Amino acid sequence: MVVTRRLPAAVEDRISGLFDARLNPEDRRLSRAEVAEALRSADGLLVSVSERLDAGILAIEGRRARIVANFGVGYDHVDVAAARALGIVVTNTPGVLTDDTADLAIALMLAVARRMGEGERLVRDGRWRGWGPTEMLGTRVSGATLGIVGMGRIGLAVARRAHLGLGMRILFHGGGHGPEPSALGAERRDRLEDLLEQSDVVSLHVPATPANRHLLDEAALARMQPTAFLVNTARGEVVDERALIEALRLGRIAGAGLDVYEHEPEVPAALREMENVVLLPHLGSATTATRVAMGQRAVDNLAAFFRGEDPPDRVA
Ligand code: DGY
Repeated sequence: MVVTRRLPAAVEDRISGLFDARLNPEDRRLSRAEVAEALRSADGLLVSVSERLDAGILAIEGRRARIVANFGVGYDHVDVAAARALGIVVTNTPGVLTDDTADLAIALMLAVARRMGEGERLVRDGRWRGWGPTEMLGTRVSGATLGIVGMGRIGLAVARRAHLGLGMRILFHGGGHGPEPSALGAERRDRLEDLLEQSDVVSLHVPATPANRHLLDEAALARMQPTAFLVNTARGEVVDERALIEALRLGRIAGAGLDVYEHEPEVPAALREMENVVLLPHLGSATTATRVAMGQRAVDNLAAFFRGEDPPDRVA
């Protein structure tokens, strides 16, 4: 078994007990050649979002690996159609990171609307001259309207926090099956444009499928109110980053809270220079408890597969 990144100790201990595991204690990013070598030499791989397993590499000659267990719920970095065609099983880790990702979306929403990044920089740089009645005024989030794009597990967890905790009115586009959205008073918007026009904050919770690539493009961003904020804890590819920079630069939207980027780990200088943008390094699931749970879930999938069972979180 090849484990491409360093994992929490409890997970590494378990995987080493179950398999002949090749770990990555230095957490060095594997090159494409090393991933190819892993596919040739191991029966299975435990991978993360930092490796790209496209059709070319999956179809490598002499492949031995029969399963790719992803450490994460999003698996857009694995070509699942190619894996399916080649008979490679792919699994993910749904559910265990829902609450932490939802917490982070709420944190980003508050941070950008209440200018926390800007305020923190002011204090940290020693530039703060003391309290002032008109200083650093932000935007009230409590009671405002939150538009959730993708009312799946994470979208719903965000809606719950926003409605029950902050008294926000919830609109949503996509997903939203089951009784809970209506119990939260959430209103469906069949047209994304309507949600964008009517929301004070737009939070993205859709996977990076080809259909969702640049879902928020220039035209979509132009639908948002100039006072509105965009929060993205999903995937960078869902937003046309160039169009987002332009919308922020021209004041077409008020700000953005971003945890993910189109070309990670690259974050455009234009974004880094903007005060009305809060930037985090893909931290959605980054708590100790969740990273352990994600790892154990990935190992559960591997263990089931090698016992001859269908892995519980099989996506291909
Ligand atoms: C996820 O689980 O999708 C996280 O973004 C890490 O890949």
